[in-house]
Amino acid sequence: MTTESFEGRTALVTGSTSGIGRAVARTLAERGAFVIVSGRDHLRGKEAVEEILGGGGRATYLPADLSTVAGVRELAAASRTVTGAVDVLVNNAGIFSFGPTSASTETDIDLMYAVNVRAPYLLVQDLVPGMVEAGSGAVVNVLTGAAFRGTAQAGLYGSGKAALKLLTQAWAAEFGPAGVRVNAVSPGPIRTEGTGFGAGLEAVADALPARRLGEAAEVAAAVAFLASGEASYVHGAVLPVDGGAVAAA
Ligand SMILES: NC(=O)c1ccc[n+]([C@@H]2O[C@H](COP(=O)([O-])OP(=O)(O)OC[C@H]3O[C@@H](n4cnc5c(N)ncnc54)[C@H](OP(=O)(O)O)[C@@H]3O)[C@@H](O)[C@H]2O)c1
Repeated sequence: MTTESFEGRTALVTGSTSGIGRAVARTLAERGAFVIVSGRDHLRGKEAVEEILGGGGRATYLPADLSTVAGVRELAAASRTVTGAVDVLVNNAGIFSFGPTSASTETDIDLMYAVNVRAPYLLVQDLVPGMVEAGSGAVVNVLTGAAFRGTAQAGLYGSGKAALKLLTQAWAAEFGPAGVRVNAVSPGPIRTEGTGFGAGLEAVADALPARRLGEAAEVAAAVAFLASGEASYVHGAVLPVDGGAVAAA
């Protein structure tokens, strides 16, 4: 299978020190992009970059704490200086915690929305104008099935991702005419550092048409497709990469 090259393009992948984001960074680098790896964990960030360099790709690490406005603004500013432009933005960094509504503290609520909603918003605000000026660019947001249906104990997480889903569509409408496409993927159960090793994920996977967990690389391939020119007429779409969860719901 031939896949479009990202040669000459720079991609910022948030939350690429781990899990799905790290796989996205690896995939885009394998296809020729210069990748900006980001997260808070310097050690894992360095490892992710070394893995890409070892495979013949190009990457650098920019640390960022996306829970603060200053952290996001600094990441956007630093990203623009790496190669002079950011052509692809993957809003992957996310936190997920589940529990009864009565147990969420004000800090939990603020943190969830800061990382999962405000950070993507500010990054689009700071980086998409450069894409608009260039007349091309792509943003891919990472959602979840809990954004589309009411799930007990997942109201806080799901509502933030539902906001990001609406933003995907609003930004597609706002920036599409300027040549910038905005789309999203919605992963199903994927084993990552963040989801841990509990049996709960397998139980979810066993009920899916695919009857298995997904791989981070399978989500990465979908992100790469949406960011590429192969998806040139795809605007504001949500691509489920969920083993059929959406079909069987
Ligand atoms: N895995 C799944 O089953 C699944 C399913 C549906 C949707 N998703 C979504 O997929 C995305 C990635 O999930 P994952 O499973 O790969 O999670 P993960 O392994 O926990 O990775 C999360 C990434 O986000 C970064 N991050 C977290 N808080 C941050 C902060 N305050 N500032 C900067 N970076 C931060 C982490 O980097 P540092 O630790 O270095 O800061 C890490 O690189 C999330 O948006 C999640 O909601 C995952």
